[in-house]
Formats: sequence, structure tokens, C-alpha cells
Amino acid sequence: MCQNNNSSIETPKKRVLSCIQPSGMLTLGNYLGALKNFAAMGKDPEFECIYAVADLHAITVRQDPKEFRARILSTYALLLSIGLDPQKAIIFIQSHVPEHTQLSWVLSCYTQFGEMSRMTQFKDKSKKRPENVNVGLFSYPDLMAADILLYNPDYVPVGEDQKQHVEITRDIAARFNGIYGDVFKMPEAYIPKVGARVMSLQDPQKKMSKSDENPNAYIGILDKPEEIMRKMKRAVTDSQSTVEVGEGRYGINNLIGIYGTITGKTADEVKKEFEGRGYGDFKAAVGEAVAEELRPIRENYERFISDKGELERLYRAGDEMAEHLARRTLRKVMKKVGFIGF
Ligand code: TRP
Repeated sequence: MCQNNNSSIETPKKRVLSCIQPSGMLTLGNYLGALKNFAAMGKDPEFECIYAVADLHAITVRQDPKEFRARILSTYALLLSIGLDPQKAIIFIQSHVPEHTQLSWVLSCYTQFGEMSRMTQFKDKSKKRPENVNVGLFSYPDLMAADILLYNPDYVPVGEDQKQHVEITRDIAARFNGIYGDVFKMPEAYIPKVGARVMSLQDPQKKMSKSDENPNAYIGILDKPEEIMRKMKRAVTDSQSTVEVGEGRYGINNLIGIYGTITGKTADEVKKEFEGRGYGDFKAAVGEAVAEELRPIRENYERFISDKGELERLYRAGDEMAEHLARRTLRKVMKKVGFIGF
């Protein structure tokens, strides 16, 4: 078991922590941008990985309770399905470890209103949803900072859009350490080298998103091979004919990115492979590569989701391991600040 009871600072393995929100159906974009890398790090003996379903973060948007419940569980099952071994990685559910909200409050008192106001995600989201600019949406990075700092990770794999939140986490940690001594380890954002930014198949200047009203624009992680092939066939390309990266060739660039990320081939190698062949061939090859990549995940998922008892057993075990680590950090923090009885 990956229980290393002692401080992560002494473990020779690098500790990795990341969380994923339980949003509806995750896409190929989420997979290639984040989950594939979670799985790779999870299998690498150099790393000790901790991953959570960030369900608390999800309620900054109104959730239907029934759907929310199902999504939390399906996101958990998906984390298992990408090939993470719950004996090697700690995989848990954020809301089950109350230390996250507890530490979040403490950290919020060491976060300045001004610095929080500069978070671009907050600004974007509040513009997009002016009818529900709640305080949780504003203080969201403090909860994320708690998620991170409780576990003293070395690396926090995140997408580009979350980098600023890791930055503010570092600022808060440094400020806290400046007052109380070395309590938190400085985490580093880890932006995966390969992870492609996957664009919409219908409007390749937009990010692939499951909330797209056109279902042909995205591939769900759990899509069946036939669906994947069909959507790929309809992917928007351009009026040229070479399979080659080029300025303004958004559709082709996107497909090359997807194909390259899955096969490990460089853009040059892809170009050579499809020299003299048409877009039809290329799209079929991309479709097949995607379908093959996602097939075992979908099969694992179907197995996990059909055994709720086993899923519960797994998340309970993950929760417990996580809480064990989180409790130690929280206790230290509370003592440092001057609370009694810890
Ligand atoms: N905010 C992240 C996202 O929306 C999810 C997240 C929550 C997270 N807590 C985290 C990511 C801690 C990394 C570390 O993608």
C-alpha cells in the first residue's frame, strides 16, 4: 500500500496530487489533456499519486441532487477505469475528507481579497453566469489550495487554465510558512508535455466541450467505436489535401494533435505516414486510434459501474488513506495558528 505515514518531505518518491470535477460526460479532451497523464503518472514507480473527485468544487454551479450523485460515482469509476490501481494510488472523494473544507477556511484568512479578485477563471465565469456569482465561486481557489496543501505534493498536474490557481496556492503557502515556519511544501504545477489541447471537431477554433449543443463536436470518453468513427468522419477539415500542420489549418492541426498524442508520433511522422493519401484515410486512422485507446476504458468502466458495492468499498478505502494524511497536516496548521485541543 502506498501508505507512507511519514512526511512526504522524506519520501524518495515524488508525490503527485490532482483532482477532477464530476462534470457530466468527460470528453476526449479531458482524457488527452488530463486523465491520460494521471494514468501514466499513476503507473510510474517514481511517483506516488493521490487523485480525488472534486465534488465540493462542483456546487459553485447548481446541481440536480440525483444527477450529481450519479456523476460523482461515475467520475470515481472513471478514475479507476483509466487504469489506476487503487492499491498504488490513493483515489478518493473530496467531500468525504472534511479536512479540505476546514483547511480552506483557515487559508481564506491568509488570502487577500485583492489577489483573489485577479483570478481570471472567476472573472470569466462570473461574466458568463451573472445570475449566480456566489461567494463559493470567488473563494474556489482557497478550497483548491487546501486540496493541494493538505497532502504536501511535489507536483500538481493541471491544465493551462488551472495554473493560476496553483500559483495562488504557492503564494498562500509561502505567506503561511513565512509566519509560522515550514508547514507546507511548495507545490509545482505540472503541465503535461504531451497532453494535447483538443479542439471541437465541428469548430476547431473552439475547445472541445461536452456542453456543445452539437454532439458531433465532441467525443465522449465512453463513446462506442461506431460513434467515434462517425464523428471523426464528419470532422471539419479544410480545402487543402495534405496531412500537415499549418497556420490556420485548425481542423487538420487538431486531428494531427489527437493522433500524435495517442500514437506518440510527431507531426512529421504523421505527415510521412499519410503522404499521398486523402483526408478520408487520415480521419479513419484517427478514429480507429481513438476508438482503440478508449475501448479498454469503456470496458473497465462498464464493469466498475455495475458493482456499486465494490465501488463503495474502494472509495471508502481511498477516503480513509487520504484522511489519514490530511488530518496530520490540518492538526499541524491548527496548532501553529494557536487553536487549542489539537
Ligand atoms: N479546479 C480544478 C478543475 O476544475 C479541479 C481541482 C480541484 C484541482 N482541486 C484541485 C486540480 C486540486 C488540481 C489540484 O480542473
